[in-house]
Amino acid sequence: MTEIRHIPLPGRLFLRTAVLTGLAGMVLGIVMGARHDFTLAPVHAHVNLLGWVSMFLFAAYYIIVPGADRRLALWQYGASLIGLVMMTIGIGGSVTGREALVPVAIFGSLFTVASMLIFTWIVFDTTRARPASPGETRPGDTVAVPQDAAHAL
Ligand code: HEM
Repeated sequence: MTEIRHIPLPGRLFLRTAVLTGLAGMVLGIVMGARHDFTLAPVHAHVNLLGWVSMFLFAAYYIIVPGADRRLALWQYGASLIGLVMMTIGIGGSVTGREALVPVAIFGSLFTVASMLIFTWIVFDTTRARPASPGETRPGDTVAVPQDAAHAL
């Protein structure tokens, strides 16, 4: 079996949480369909989109860009997870008439946006244009080939 080696911890945490929440969201979808009761459709949508889709995308970024600040990325994972759990409870409570749980959704959304803010910082930090280090070549660079080496090509 092919393995991806050296997945940074934030990537691994996001990836594993993404597949688990994806499974949970899909099972909830099947249960809703089987019962013909779609009250929890907003919960299903948020678990799938904040959990499965967003967390998978965060994981993919940390795997593709292993140089991202790991400590910040772990904070981002924490904020994401707390946001997801609180929004699931809060939206679930709200659509089933438990008004007392609405503030949980509100605070959850603040954690979720905090996670996205941290991720935005990380993306801008890791995509900053940096001067090339001596001897470094980048795609599109014109490389001078010495005469004797050119013969060997
Ligand atoms: C086994 C897989 C899935 C099943 C069985 C399923 C089932 C359902 C059902 C029964 C509904 C309610 C439809 C209605 O209100 O008439 C729904 C809504 C929805 N689903 Fe899924 N779904 C699945 C996967 C997904 C995934 C992977 C996503 C997103 C990545 C997703 C996003 C949504 C959204 C955005 C809604 C609309 C929610 C709303 O109207 O509040 N679903 N799904």
